[in-house]
Amino acid sequence: MSDNVVPAVINLDVTGPVINRHLYGHFAEHLGRCIYGGFYVGEDSEIPNEGGIRLDVVDALKALNIPNLRWPGGCFADEYHWMDGIGPKDERPAMVNTHWGNVEENNHFGTHEFMALCELLGAEPYISGNVGSGTVKEMSDWVEYLTRDGDSPMVRLRKRNGREQPWKVRFWGLGNEAWGCGGNMSAQQYAAEARRFGTYCRDHGDNKLYRIAAGANAGDYAWTETLMKQLGELGCAYRPNGFMQALSFHYYTIPGPWHDKGDATVFGTDDYYRTMVKAAYVDELITGHSNVMDCYDPGKAVGLVLDEWGTWWNVEPGTNPGFLYQQNTLRDALVASVHFDIFHRHADRLVMANIAQTVNVLQAMILTDPDTKALVLTPTYHVFEMNKGHQDAASLRVDVKDALPTRDVEGTSLTTVSVSASRKDGKVLISLSNLDADAAADVELDLRGGTVADVRSRILTAGELQAHNTPGAPETVAPRAYEQVKATNGGLRVHLPAHSFVTVEGRVG
Ligand code: AHR
Repeated sequence: MSDNVVPAVINLDVTGPVINRHLYGHFAEHLGRCIYGGFYVGEDSEIPNEGGIRLDVVDALKALNIPNLRWPGGCFADEYHWMDGIGPKDERPAMVNTHWGNVEENNHFGTHEFMALCELLGAEPYISGNVGSGTVKEMSDWVEYLTRDGDSPMVRLRKRNGREQPWKVRFWGLGNEAWGCGGNMSAQQYAAEARRFGTYCRDHGDNKLYRIAAGANAGDYAWTETLMKQLGELGCAYRPNGFMQALSFHYYTIPGPWHDKGDATVFGTDDYYRTMVKAAYVDELITGHSNVMDCYDPGKAVGLVLDEWGTWWNVEPGTNPGFLYQQNTLRDALVASVHFDIFHRHADRLVMANIAQTVNVLQAMILTDPDTKALVLTPTYHVFEMNKGHQDAASLRVDVKDALPTRDVEGTSLTTVSVSASRKDGKVLISLSNLDADAAADVELDLRGGTVADVRSRILTAGELQAHNTPGAPETVAPRAYEQVKATNGGLRVHLPAHSFVTVEGRVG
C-alpha cells in the first residue's frame, strides 16, 4: 500500500448522463501523412488495400469502435472544393495545400473515398464544410450530393460517379476556426455566415443534419456567447432545429510557447507536470463554455463539441515542419486518459470530441513508417481501446471522501489521481489515472448499490514517462493484465503505480 490512499464512493445504482459515444471521435485532415500514406495508399500499392484504403490501418482502428471521423480539415477544409475530389481520379484537378507544407494535393482521396473509409471503419462521417473560401451553394450542393434520394442535379452527378444510393451524413461542420485560418472573422461576422450557410444545408429526406458551428479558440467565451445570442435572436434557443445544433471549440495541450512547443520524447519531469496542468485545464474550458451556453439554453438543446484536442509538440527532427508528425509517449497516454475523465464528467453538455489526429499527425493513434510501411500503435491508441466501454454508457459519479492528492506545479495545483466510471449492459467500467511521476497511490473504492463480480483489470504504464513504441519495439507501452486490484469489504482497492493508467471492469449484480 502507498502513502497516498484515496477513499472514494461509487453508487452503482445511481446513474448520470449517458456518455455520448461521439466523445471518442476522430479527425483526419489532408495534412502531412494522415490521408496519403496513412489512411490511403492508392489501389496500386503493394500494401493490402481496398480501393486504395490501407487495410492494416482500418483493422487496427476497428478495435477502437471509432464512432465518427471528421474530414477533410481543419484549416484544409476552408480551402477544399469538394467537386475537385469526385469523378475519375486522373481527371481530378490538383491544388496546393497552402496550410500544410505547400505540397500538391492531387485530390485522389475525395468524397467517395472518405465515405468508403467510414464504411470500412463503421464510423459516422463528420464533414467540415468550406465557409472560408467556399460558397453557400457549394456547401448546399455537397449536402444534396451526399444525402438526397430520388432525382436531382446532384443526385444524377453522384450516380454518374458510381453511387446509386444516398449516404447518411448527420454531422456537418460550418467551417473551421473562423477566427483564424477559416477566414480571420470576428465572432459577429462568423455568426452571420453560419446562419446563412446553416440555412441552406438542407435536410434531404430522412437525413437530419446536425450542424456544428465553428467555435471558439480555447477560452474565448465571448465567441460562444455571440453564437448563442444569434440563436436566441432567431427565437430558436430551445428548438434544436435552428441553423446550428451544436457549436465547437478547439483546445490543444501545448506546454511550451508556440514557437517551441517542446519535444515529444525528450522532456524532463517539470515538462511532464506542466503538460498535465495544461491537459487538466480542459475542465475549466468546458465548464466556461457550458456556463455561457446554460445562460441562453438552460435546457441543453445545443451541444458542445470539442472537435480538435490533443498534444502538439515540435515535429520529429528531420521531418517536414508543415506535416506535424510527432512521436507519442506514456505522457500522451495520460493526457488522453485525463481528458476522458473530464469529458465523462461533462456528459450533460459535451456531445462530441475529436482527437487530432488519427494517423501520423499530432496525437495520433497510429504511426506508419514511410520507408518500411510498418505500423505502430501508440500509447494513446491503447487508452482509446481500454476506455471504449464508456461509449454510450451511463456515467457514474465518483465521490471522493477526502481531498484528492495534489502537487504544486509552478503555482498551479495539479490533482494527481483521476477517476471516472460508467455502467452499461450490466457491467461497470472504472478508469483510474495516477499522474504522479514518482509516487504510487491506492484508491479504495466503496461500491454501493450493487456488487461487482468477475473483475478484470488492465494497466498501461512503463518504466519511464518518455517510453514509446517504435517498429523495432512496438509493445514498449501496451496494456497488460493487472492483478493489483483486491476485493475489500464492500468494494475494491486499486493500487496505482506512479504514472499509470488502469481500467477495472466487472459484472454488476
Ligand atoms: O490539427 C491541426 C490544425 O490545428 C487544424 O487544421 C486546425 O483547425 C488547428 O489549428
